[in-house]
Amino acid sequence: MNQRGAQMLSPCPGPNPAQHPGDGCIKAVGQADVIRNQFSGATFERIIDCSGKCVLPGLVDAHTHPVWAGDRVHEFAMKLAGASYMEIHQAGGGIHFTVEHTRKATEDELSRALQQRLERMLRAGSTLVECKSGYGLDLETELKMLRVIERARTSVDIGISSTYCGAHAVPRGKTATEATDDIINNHLPKLKELKLSGEMHVNNIDVFCEKGVFDLESTRRILEAGKEIGLQINFHGDELHPMKSAELGAELGARAISHLEEVSDEGIVAMARANCAAVLLPTTAYMLRLKQPQARKMLEEGVIVALGSDFNPNAYCFSMPMVMHLACVNMKMSMNEALAAATINAAYALGKSDTHGSLEVGKQGDLLIINSSRWEHLIYQFGGHEALINYVIVKGKVI
Ligand code: NIG
Ligand code: FE
Repeated sequence: MNQRGAQMLSPCPGPNPAQHPGDGCIKAVGQADVIRNQFSGATFERIIDCSGKCVLPGLVDAHTHPVWAGDRVHEFAMKLAGASYMEIHQAGGGIHFTVEHTRKATEDELSRALQQRLERMLRAGSTLVECKSGYGLDLETELKMLRVIERARTSVDIGISSTYCGAHAVPRGKTATEATDDIINNHLPKLKELKLSGEMHVNNIDVFCEKGVFDLESTRRILEAGKEIGLQINFHGDELHPMKSAELGAELGARAISHLEEVSDEGIVAMARANCAAVLLPTTAYMLRLKQPQARKMLEEGVIVALGSDFNPNAYCFSMPMVMHLACVNMKMSMNEALAAATINAAYALGKSDTHGSLEVGKQGDLLIINSSRWEHLIYQFGGHEALINYVIVKGKVI
């Protein structure tokens, strides 16, 4: 893989296989006969014969909104008939519709829905996913969503990076400034307290930086306050309008910025210099018929390009293989670039490339076994990947 995320890996202290036999990490990578010699005399719980198959790193989905109630299938019909995303949002639909339903749902209902969705992601080959809150907007519901994500860490065999996204929309009845003040003065102090007590492990902070949602100044204030309490900056920017989100993210030391359909040339250069990953979301550009993000230009300028499904009620897609396919066809990425973007670079976007995203000794044993001698089938085939993926393995455990 010729991606900068891969080159930037710091070396992992590979645990000695003899000392840590069952810690779920990769013990060796290489030729079968060499490995057999290295482990002669060892006993194994299970041996999987991969002759004629391919072993790949587990896929990493760098952007999802998987906790919500109330789907928006009716809006899909409206969009097909010509309504734009923002027209629906401003008329009280879109995120507002989902917020209304998510506020009413119980924690158990949301947990069940999340569990089913994460299991579908696992079956499609994702072994590490980013999960956002953001359909509560008020403190009570945002915390409910984050608790639901927290529960999933133990109930589902998938890696999770959790993101507080209370600035996903301006709640009805508030101005953007009032919502920003509420987040900074009430939400973030509570999150800090829960993080310190170990009750929650929130990793990232997100804002929907967009015309008619949070402007650049509000975005800056929220992201700076999030950074101060130890959250990684990872936000939605330059999606529907050019906002200079990329320039802001680079200045603030953002780990990643998502969408970027409307990013400026200067923003691309600033992201490359700041090692800020671009999380591209081919499903959204496709479903909303947006301009495609300039993946080629970003790669040429040296930006760390990652991919995400953006799973949410607007982009109902669990499958990173489908995302890679769209990235190749619509964004002109090569299959090698798409695989790097959906593994090591996506892990980088979540601050986890030291432990995830590639098959290296000492990294977590997250892998896929593909029923084909050509790994490219995972991208070439459009849909139906559950039949192609023979095994999904997380931390050395066959799922
Ligand atoms: O990444 N753009 C903002 N957030 C989501 C959509 C969320 C929704 O419409 O429910 C996105 O596409
Ligand atoms: Fe999103």
